[in-house]
This record gives sequence, C-alpha cells and structure tokens, in this order.
Amino acid sequence: MRSRKQKGFDLHILSIALGGCIRGEPVQYGITEDTGGHITYILGEMEALSRRDDVDRAEIVTRLFDDERLGREHAIAEEYLNPKLAITRIDSGNRKYLAKEQLAADRAAFVAALIKNLRQRDRLPDIVHAHFADAADVARQIKDALSIPFIYTPHSLGLDKLEAGAERNIGLVDRIAEEDAAIGHAAGIIASSRDECERQLTAYPSVRIDRIHRITPGVCAEPATRSDIDAARQLVAPFLKDEAKPVILAVARAVRKKNLIGLVEAFGRSEELRGRANLVLLAGQRKGLLEGEAEQNEVISEIIDAIDQHELYGSIAYPPHHSRREVRGLYALAAEGRGVFVNPALIEPYGLTLVEAAFYGVPVVATKVGGPCDIVRELQHGTLVDPTNIGEIEAAIIDLLDDKDKWNAAAINGHSGAHSMTWDRYAEKFMMLAEEVVDPQMRSKLSQSYHHLVVSDLDNTLTGCREGARRIARFFARRDDDAFAIATGRSIIEAQRIVREWNLPQPTVWITSVGSEIYWSGNDGLTLDTDFADQIERDWRPQEVERALDDVPGLEPQANYEQRRFKRSYFVGEEGVVDEVRRRLEEDKLEARVILSHGHLLDVLPASAGKGAAMLHVARRLRVPVERLIAIGDSGNDHDMLSICENSVMVANYSGELSDLVGQRGLYVAQRRHAAGALEGIVAYHARSRRNSSERKAA
Ligand code: GLC
Ligand code: MG
Repeated sequence: MRSRKQKGFDLHILSIALGGCIRGEPVQYGITEDTGGHITYILGEMEALSRRDDVDRAEIVTRLFDDERLGREHAIAEEYLNPKLAITRIDSGNRKYLAKEQLAADRAAFVAALIKNLRQRDRLPDIVHAHFADAADVARQIKDALSIPFIYTPHSLGLDKLEAGAERNIGLVDRIAEEDAAIGHAAGIIASSRDECERQLTAYPSVRIDRIHRITPGVCAEPATRSDIDAARQLVAPFLKDEAKPVILAVARAVRKKNLIGLVEAFGRSEELRGRANLVLLAGQRKGLLEGEAEQNEVISEIIDAIDQHELYGSIAYPPHHSRREVRGLYALAAEGRGVFVNPALIEPYGLTLVEAAFYGVPVVATKVGGPCDIVRELQHGTLVDPTNIGEIEAAIIDLLDDKDKWNAAAINGHSGAHSMTWDRYAEKFMMLAEEVVDPQMRSKLSQSYHHLVVSDLDNTLTGCREGARRIARFFARRDDDAFAIATGRSIIEAQRIVREWNLPQPTVWITSVGSEIYWSGNDGLTLDTDFADQIERDWRPQEVERALDDVPGLEPQANYEQRRFKRSYFVGEEGVVDEVRRRLEEDKLEARVILSHGHLLDVLPASAGKGAAMLHVARRLRVPVERLIAIGDSGNDHDMLSICENSVMVANYSGELSDLVGQRGLYVAQRRHAAGALEGIVAYHARSRRNSSERKAA
C-alpha cells in the first residue's frame, strides 16, 4: 500500500465528546449516567491512531469541570496519555458537571471557548471526529469557522427508538433533528453494524449513502486470569447443586426486550438441558425487588416465577451483583466447561456480548434480529435463532453441547475472529477514510468518454488475494480511458466498505444488490440511477413474491437489511428448493428472476433486473459498444452478465453454477484465481483485440 507518510500525511485528529467523565484509565464507568461505552471507543480509537506514524497528534476534546466527587483530573486543561495523545478540556465558564438539557444549554459557550482555543494555535487540526449528535453540532460550527471537515459517529440513534415504540416527546424529536443535521453535514459517518448503517441511518432524510462507512470497533476485553475464574466460581457456587456441569451463560440487563425469560423457559421446559447444564444469568445489578426500577422488577419477578414453576432450584444461578472480573471469569468458566453463551433478545442493536463471548472462546446461540446477524455470520461462532421460538433456542443449545466438532470449530473461529477485531485495524480503516475526506481529489472523477468498460464482480473475483488486488489496482491506475464498474450481490454500503478494505480502484459506477441498483459516482458522491429503477419496477410485486415463498421448506429469509427495494434474498437448505421456488412463482404467475449463488444464497429479482441487464444499461449510458465490454465473475449471480458479454472472464476459482459457460465463444477461463485471474483475463482481451486489429490492417 502507498505510504501516506510519503505523501506528506501527518494528520492531527481531534475527537470530540461532550458528555461523561472522560479520562485516562482507569475510567470509572457508570459514575454518571453519561459515562458509558463511548469512552472505551474514543480511548481505543485515539490510542491506536496515536501509535501510527502517519498521525502527528491525536487529541480528545471534552468539557472541563471541577467536581471533587467525580475526580479532580476533570479540571486539568491538558492531560497527556502518551506523547502524541492528549485530552484537552475546554472551560466553558461553567465548571459544574453537566448532563442532558444543562449540557445542551452550555454548548454555545463551549463552542466559543473551543474555537478561541483553536484560533490561538500555530497549527489547526486536519480532521474532527464527533461522537454523538451534540458533538457533531460543535464540529459543524468548527467547520463553518475554520473549514475543518468532520466525521460523525452516532453511537446510538433516536429514530430507531421511536420506531421501537418510544414515546414521541420533545426531547426525542429534537434529538432526531440534531442527528439528521449531523448526518447531513458530516463528510463521513462511521458506525459499527450493518443494521445501523443500512437500516437505521438510511431512514434519516439527510442521509447520503456514499458517506456511510461501517468500521468494526476494537474489542476491549481482557484475558481472564485464574483468580478471575475462581471469583466467578464463588459467585455462582451458592446457587448450584452440581458445579461441574457446563454453563449456559446469558449477560444482559433485566429489560423486556432482552427476553431472558425466553431462555429460562427454554431451559425449564427441557429435561435434557436441565440434566446436562447449569444456567447462569447475569441480569444487571439489582437493588432488590422493593427498590429497583419497575421494568427490572417485573422481569426479575417473571424469572423467579418461572424458576418456581419448573423447579429449577440448584441448576440456575442469578446473582444480584457482579464485577467486571467476575464477568470475565464467567466467560472463561463457560469456555472451560464447554458451555454456551446465549443472547435471546427480541431485538439487539449490535450485540457486544457476542463479541466478548467469542473473545473468550465460548460458542453462542443468538437472536437473529438485529446486529447479531452480522457478528455471528462474520465470526462463524454459533447459531442464530428466532428468539420467539423456545424450541429452536433449546435445540440450538443442545446441538452445541452435543456436537464436539461443531463446538470446537465455533470456539476457535470466535476466538481468532474476535482477537483480530483490534483498534489498530479500526485505525487503519479510519485513516483511509480520513485521507479521502481531507483530500477530496482522491475521490474518483467521472470523465466523459471511455474506450472500454470493465464490469467485475467483487467477492472472490477481486477479493481473496492481497497481491492480486494490488496488481489490478495498479493496472487500473494507468488506464484513465477505461471505465471500471463493480457488479456485486452486496448492498452499496457494504460494497464500498469492501472496495476500501481491499484497496481496489474506485469504480465509475456501482452495480449492487445483484444488479437491482445502479449508482454513479460523481464529484458530489453517489447518485442512484432512477431510470434503471423505473425500468425494473414495472413488473415487480415483492409482497406477492414474499407470500408465494413464505412456507417453502428449506427456504429461510436472509437478514432484514438484505431485503432491498428490488431484491428478496434467502438461504437455501436442501436440494430441490430452487425448483420449488420457481414452481411457486410460476403458479402465482409472478415473473421474477431466481438466482442461486454458491449453492446456498438465493435471490429473487424483477424479471428485467440482474447484473447482465444492469451492465448493458451502464454500457449504453457510457456509449461503450458491446464489443468493448469485459465482464468478470466467479459465481451464480454473475452467470447472466458473463453469458451475454462477448468478452467474459471467469477466474480460476469459479463455482459450479458457471460450468455450463465453459466453451462459450469469447469466454476466457483464467489460470489464476481471484484478482490475478481477473487481470489475466483483461490482459488476454487486450492482446486479442490488438491481434485482431493488426490482422484487419494486414488484410
Ligand atoms: C451477497 C448479498 C446476498 C446475496 C448474495 C448472492 O452476499 O449480500 O444477499 O444473496 O450476494 O447474490
Ligand atoms: Mg463473487
């Protein structure tokens, strides 16, 4: 990769957060209501950034306050955490600790003091990272005053709370408006999960799809020591008859949506589970049923009731308090005894506990609603279940307890995956984004006329081998006259993330969601091709498709964010399912395109959509004739574009769904795999067309 340092990149990054007690470790989480997880995030992020040599200075900006109870360090104007990392505390004139409305009322004074501080400096920061919408408002004012661009991380979004049934009060409505302003003004938005990126953020009116970036945060878990494990044992021992049994562990606050009762029911009703394992619930810290909050008390009462009903005495532990080290110890204990971690939530925005379980090597059974879908699919460390289906929860736990190989694979996958979710990786990706934001020339230019159009699939065609990806990127950097398009099954947001992650060239045009969406990149970001959308919409009846396929055995819908305007996607369990899908659609006279990829991913699209149709649409708009079109792919959803293109390339790692194309006129099957194979195919095309044109001249 190009070294940014050589290009003169030595960034000064300023991270802003207004609420909470931000300080160097040890942070006292929970000391105020606002002293929560975002502080781990900021410290992890900024420490990692400060370790890089293309970063000159990492600076965290927050409010200064003087309150003995909360710690005197919050009154220190500058606290160095390492030579390149400092916390700068800005004195707004009010030295009290503030939360909520009072914090909002103090903002104008804070901004004035901060801008004054910045103006007195020899060197201004290059980029600001704002945490939460209030800091984004500060960042916008800095941008207006000093022209410094900013990146916004929402951490949690109000609109989703409203949709989940929260009361529509002024506070929430204002917050949503502030979030929308932040989304509209930020040069980039960083969020953690696909649900946040593709469902929550995209629901805001000011969103621009090309500004959303998913970057996985680092994992902050610490390894558990022997004494942590002993402490955990002591915590649960008084509850349990037979301590030696494997632990089924759940860690979640005692609120309804976490559905702990679902797990207790699954355990209580299953003789097998009760016989084989102990259930350990860490349901937050509770004050006692007479004092705690109403919802917590109700949830705990229900759990106790279920324990009575099923007579679970001696096989379930539910300690009222726990410390960080006991939690660590419990995860380790669950791993040691070959137990299972369960998150049965009715909806889970991200699911950090699943990453923690992975870190400690505990396989998981997790709700498929919300963020866990991403995490479990990425880490491959357990089973997703419908949280309302108690039998499914039970079966998934028993399966993991029973199947040694499955348990081992899940434990190892989770452990290695979670250990690679580091803040250094995060920092690497942050810098790629920062580079684009600070130096917008980096963004692709849309030039007027092109000689060729290369349309390539992404996964396993351009990704899969770093060296090949580097070579094809270098190749395209030299070919200004060729338009480059990505055609992928992924959503636009995920496709952008993968292109950045693999340092692939920025395409002129993006064909996404299996050729059901087209985006053109221009000077101010991406624009959806509405002509194409109008065209394919004509005979698309998604509700009817859903209904027709509702109860096909062996057909499971993919996550909700995979269901797009012109795409319904499923997992296929058994053979024969595809035929059944086609039969049902035909029976209901629904014209739709059915595409199977990698043997188990099934997409249903409008009849006139697909990568092939999208490719022809793009070629027409760019006025590139079909003879100068090159299509490259590896799997089922590439079939249509490879079969209609006169110059197709299949990389060596192509999957069975494409076998019938071998031997087709103009098709080149590369010797090499992945991007190296794609490049081989393009080079072969150019050699062939040079040969043809010299033969024509000679003739
Ligand atoms: C991508 C999409 C998925 C689709 C698959 C095959 O993985 O995310 O929804 O089924 O491509 O086209
Ligand atoms: Mg592919």
